[in-house]
Amino acid sequence: MIFPGQNSEALKKAAHLICSGELVGLPTETVYGLSADALSDEAVSKIYSLKGRPSNHPLIAHLFSKEEIKYFATDVPDYANKLIDRLWPGPLTLILKKIDGIAMGCTANAKSIALRCPAHPVAQALLGECRDLGIRGLAAPSANRFGRVSPTTAEHVHEEFGESLFILDGGPCEVGIESTIVDCTRGQPIVLRPGVLTIQELSLSAGQQVLSEKEFSRLLSPLKIKEARAPSASGTLESHYAPKALVRLLSREDLLLNFSPAVAVSSRLGIWSQEKVTSKSERISLFWRQMPNDPHACAKALFAQLREFDSIGVEEIWVEKPQNSPEWAGINDRLQRAAYAVGTEPR
Ligand code: TXA
Ligand code: MG
Repeated sequence: MIFPGQNSEALKKAAHLICSGELVGLPTETVYGLSADALSDEAVSKIYSLKGRPSNHPLIAHLFSKEEIKYFATDVPDYANKLIDRLWPGPLTLILKKIDGIAMGCTANAKSIALRCPAHPVAQALLGECRDLGIRGLAAPSANRFGRVSPTTAEHVHEEFGESLFILDGGPCEVGIESTIVDCTRGQPIVLRPGVLTIQELSLSAGQQVLSEKEFSRLLSPLKIKEARAPSASGTLESHYAPKALVRLLSREDLLLNFSPAVAVSSRLGIWSQEKVTSKSERISLFWRQMPNDPHACAKALFAQLREFDSIGVEEIWVEKPQNSPEWAGINDRLQRAAYAVGTEPR
């Protein structure tokens, strides 16, 4: 059921559910999360089973503030503290060395833990209520079934899990794609999952160069590459974030000049592009939606657009591939994973 996230009764009820080991659908500025007490393995196991997520894919623990880091992580490097001071609360998750023996469920028994302090006022309010009841953090993956498109409204969460889940409504998510994940366990900051923060912004905040996985492995001798491998991250599986329809990523030229909707395999076609595309073919029902030309607006719209195409029953979605610049990295990453499922775009 969906409850208004600003309502203090609803927030109190949500905090009590968390304390009794239940799950709550929670708005954050990136996407909605499916939350539980991060330190209760029993509560966290309900997240894995409701999502259908393999139990070896660790979750992010969400904190009220940086004060709670000490309950979860240790040996926080200097550059990580700088990132925290400058970018929390916000759409940034850090992988840090975990305190031994805690949060086994949340971390899938890993030696590291993913921590994030969300900026959304409803997330902050629930974390605050929970903290007053002795809860130190909330494990929360995106509130979708495993492999599916992440939810950016309370209604999307309801579509995924139905009436039995208690969902706090915080409106449509401002950021729209998941947090940037920076691994701080391998001596240098390394981006594991791009989001809306660019490498330049991250490097400026960290006071040193933040690397991509590729750049990091180039610095290593071949012998070291295996032992310095990235910790596992389910959002980094090649096929992820997939709508039901088949997604095809096309260059602007292909979409506007070389390709005709007449070649679509199916008769219901969704197109998301900056310029309007039409079809003269009578065989095709074409649904065109305008892709924003600003990366922030595009990220905000992305998952809701894929879901809307699914809901109108298109069988194919053609998406204009955005430019290859740092501001578009997070969007390109999600689009490539959505398209990968049908093998249309080599990666
Ligand atoms: O914006 C977000 O990050 C959203 C909101 C709800 O906060 N959450 C989210 O969670 O995207 P999820 O579970 O869908 O993605 C978490 C990612 C996964 O790719 C997971 O494998 C990775 O974080 N992760 C978690 N713990 C990790 C660890 N110890 N080492 C490496 N990756 C980790
Ligand atoms: Mg997810």
